[in-house]
Amino acid sequence: MANIVIIGGTSGIGRELAGHLVGQGDSVVLTGRDAERARQVAREVGKGRHHVRGIALDLAEPHEIARALSGTGPVDHLVITAVERDVNSVRDYSVDRAVRLATLKVVGYTAAVAALREVLAPTGSVVLFGGVAKDAPYPGSTTVTAVNGAVVSMVRTLSTELAPVRVNAVHPGIVSDTPSWSGQADVLESVRSRTPTGRLATMADIVGATVFLMHNPAVNRVNLTVDGGMV
Ligand SMILES: NC(=O)c1ccc[n+]([C@@H]2O[C@H](COP(=O)([O-])OP(=O)(O)OC[C@H]3O[C@@H](n4cnc5c(N)ncnc54)[C@H](OP(=O)(O)O)[C@@H]3O)[C@@H](O)[C@H]2O)c1
Repeated sequence: MANIVIIGGTSGIGRELAGHLVGQGDSVVLTGRDAERARQVAREVGKGRHHVRGIALDLAEPHEIARALSGTGPVDHLVITAVERDVNSVRDYSVDRAVRLATLKVVGYTAAVAALREVLAPTGSVVLFGGVAKDAPYPGSTTVTAVNGAVVSMVRTLSTELAPVRVNAVHPGIVSDTPSWSGQADVLESVRSRTPTGRLATMADIVGATVFLMHNPAVNRVNLTVDGGMV
């Protein structure tokens, strides 16, 4: 049994990962911004098991992160999936939204790692989440593309700083069954038709990639794209 913290575990990929790990007998702490919602998701994911707990944490408020995570540990693996979706065109640029997303993914991700560094097992790992927007921009993606590109760099710097703890990242393409893409069948079909595998990644695919990065002791400093080969 491993002790896992999933920051952004109340929805989408993070929630799917929490369910998978709890099902395998791991102990999971999952986070969202709202304490009651995090506790509710922990109850749903745990299905009556006692080794899953939900706590509140806002990565866009980085000064509060250490306090929110105090008392959490020991930790074998830290997975950070959290994001606030944003389309922010330079034609109609919102500085506030850009600052919030950059704070969340760059400062917030790093502050969460910093807060848990002393309770991370030397044989453990950190898995960050970026996305293929780092290489494949679209109108309105300047901040998303920049912060997902920053995740590539953070893997290098954090793996240097945290050694022997391994640090890797998953960069998904469109993940067809995430809530983010609900009701957007036309977009999904358009991307699927241009994907060499003829299918889009699913949350199960991303969970499989994440578990691989967490557990393979020789895999370190890897930025793993999981998108069916479409860039
Ligand atoms: N889905 C895709 O197709 C796709 C494609 C490329 C990359 N990705 C990347 O994969 C990761 C997961 O995506 P997803 O679609 O599964 O996300 P999601 O369903 O939108 O879930 C986002 C999670 O982040 C949490 N969160 C949001 N704002 C937060 C904040 N300020 N502080 C802390 N937690 C916060 C949410 O919790 P609460 O709402 O409960 O606060 C939720 O648990 C993201 O990093 C995303 O960039 C996803």
